[in-house]
Amino acid sequence: MSRHRVAVIAGDGIGPEVVEAALAVLSAASSRFGFTLDVERLPYSADHYLATRETIPDDAVEHLRTDVDAIFVGALGDPRVPGNEHARDILLGLRFRLDLYVNLRPVTLLHPALCPLREPAGGRAIDFAIFRENTEGIYVGAGGGLRVGTPDEVQLAEEVHTRKGVERIIRYAFEWAKANGKTRVTMSDKANAVPAHRLWGRVFAEVGAEYPGIEREHRYVDALAMELVREPERFQAIVTQNLFGDILSDLAAQLVGGLGISPSANLHPGRVGLFEPVHGSAPPMAGKNVANPFAAILTGAMMVREMRHPEAAAALEDAVRAAIAGGVTTPDLGGRAGTSEVARWVAERVSH
Ligand code: NAD
Ligand code: IPM
Ligand code: MN
Repeated sequence: MSRHRVAVIAGDGIGPEVVEAALAVLSAASSRFGFTLDVERLPYSADHYLATRETIPDDAVEHLRTDVDAIFVGALGDPRVPGNEHARDILLGLRFRLDLYVNLRPVTLLHPALCPLREPAGGRAIDFAIFRENTEGIYVGAGGGLRVGTPDEVQLAEEVHTRKGVERIIRYAFEWAKANGKTRVTMSDKANAVPAHRLWGRVFAEVGAEYPGIEREHRYVDALAMELVREPERFQAIVTQNLFGDILSDLAAQLVGGLGISPSANLHPGRVGLFEPVHGSAPPMAGKNVANPFAAILTGAMMVREMRHPEAAAALEDAVRAAIAGGVTTPDLGGRAGTSEVARWVAERVSH
């Protein structure tokens, strides 16, 4: 029987609730499909930071890099840490230090009623993936403040785009398109205003030329935001820089039901992956058993698919679809069930 070591960072706010829900469902899936997840819970969170002043220690990062098969994260962010230091160190820190350059955020409409847009003739079929560059851009933290707190304050934040960094995420998007029978990749930048973004256009043309069956399409990010609302079904794969990917992924999430249902994976082929819902810690919802666990459950499906258990991943996705179709959902999707009730229903469904 195959075994996989999963390190869990439940984090803050609704993180622990959706993680417990997802782990229960994953446990049902692993029993049914004949594999074992050895779960190790790590304490890094706002509580831990406030109690110890430790965000995530170097030896924990090394442990995650070398000793585990996957990292499963709930959410990080807490009003008691207004500077968000712990979340930057833990979440962005792991993305950067483990060099997880692919942030894959699938956008799939699981039920027509979840789309807030008017339905076109023939119904909606939204099914694309955002490939967000995850190690560069404005997120590198280059810059700083001058004359802070005075009327002459200046803040600088520099964007970094390297030839290698841009090339590897674009190549990953084309490889994914090829492997998944897609015929078009859309690259988005803001090169009309920011000349540095022209690197993306050059690399996109060069790398894309290696994939003759796949059409290359470019959209400025402002126009892409508009088009995603106007005609989301025409997109197949979108590749873009870190910040634009962050913003577009929340917009795209709402096209298919919202943050409560949107999963993501942070990947670097051949290395440990970090799996997390797109949503954050939603502090006002925490502790009320109202958070939607679907995003975390579907994130678990992405994780077991990476572990080469595609049948378990499909069963998890089918069970979520069935829950939506049957109205077993949390209030954000119009239902009246609680987090734990939804998780129990999905776990039961996955079991046989
Ligand atoms: P958020 O994603 O936490 O919540 C925004 C809104 O989305 C919520 O008010 C709620 O209406 C809805 N929502 C999110 N998750 C939901 C769920 N599972 N079920 C139902 N509804 C859900 O974003 P925010 O309010 O901007 O950020 C809160 C904190 O989370 C901040 O500290 C932020 O930095 C952090 N954050 C962390 C991550 C992460 O850990 N990956 C991602 C985004 C934001
Ligand atoms: C996300 C989040 C993070 C990001 C925050 C919490 C730093 O919004 O994962 O989408 O900006 O990447
Ligand atoms: Mn985000």
